[in-house]
Amino acid sequence: MSGDNLRQVTEVKHPLVQHKLSILRKKETSTCEFRNLLHEIGLLLGYEATRNLPLEDVEIETPVAKMTGKRLAGRKLCLLSILRAGEGLLSGFMELVPSARVAHIGLVRNPKTLEPDEYFFKAPSDIDQRLNIAVDPMLATGGSAIAAITAIKQRGAKNILFVCLVAAPEGIKKFHDAHPDVPIVVASVDERLNDHGYIVPGLGDAGDRIFGTK
Ligand code: PRP
Ligand code: URA
Repeated sequence: MSGDNLRQVTEVKHPLVQHKLSILRKKETSTCEFRNLLHEIGLLLGYEATRNLPLEDVEIETPVAKMTGKRLAGRKLCLLSILRAGEGLLSGFMELVPSARVAHIGLVRNPKTLEPDEYFFKAPSDIDQRLNIAVDPMLATGGSAIAAITAIKQRGAKNILFVCLVAAPEGIKKFHDAHPDVPIVVASVDERLNDHGYIVPGLGDAGDRIFGTK
């Protein structure tokens, strides 16, 4: 990866994230445990992804005294879930920011070409006014993430962040070539892609593991 691309990637090394990710990766981890852990990691990645949200002063009164507190200011959030697997991370983000609007894009990779096919799109009309955080556990070839970001840019989105759990270096490069303005927050940049476009070592098919559809 070039220096430019590395500058756009935040790898979340927090011990809780890394610990939970290792359990997720294990092939014997059950569907129920996988789902619960992904929700918990969503909370932790959400904490990192929202670290730079702007604050403004607010006058409040505690039971003891008046004070100037802080509240979120300015740009509001839109979370973009890349179906299906994005739903696994979305729940943690929604718990952190209950007032966020939510957009969905349905994308499925063609197993032969590895190109994503879009089957659904629905988003709030004012995504141009919001910080848009796209979530999907896996960034493999990068095709799905690129298509999702292109879709919201076509509807006016300008401020965008992409959050995933595991990424392949090849996918990160392709993503930044297509969307150099979109930073990535990720729990692990893995070794490579295999011949079937799966991340190595990865965690297998995230959607199948969340929903038990293998
Ligand atoms: C998975 C994953 C990403 C995509 C990553 O979805 O959730 O969206 O593959 O691969 P890429 O970077 O090579 O595009 P999948 O197409 O399997 O659909 P699903 O979530 O419905 O299972
Ligand atoms: N999609 C997944 O769910 N896992 C991979 O490793 C690659 C694409």
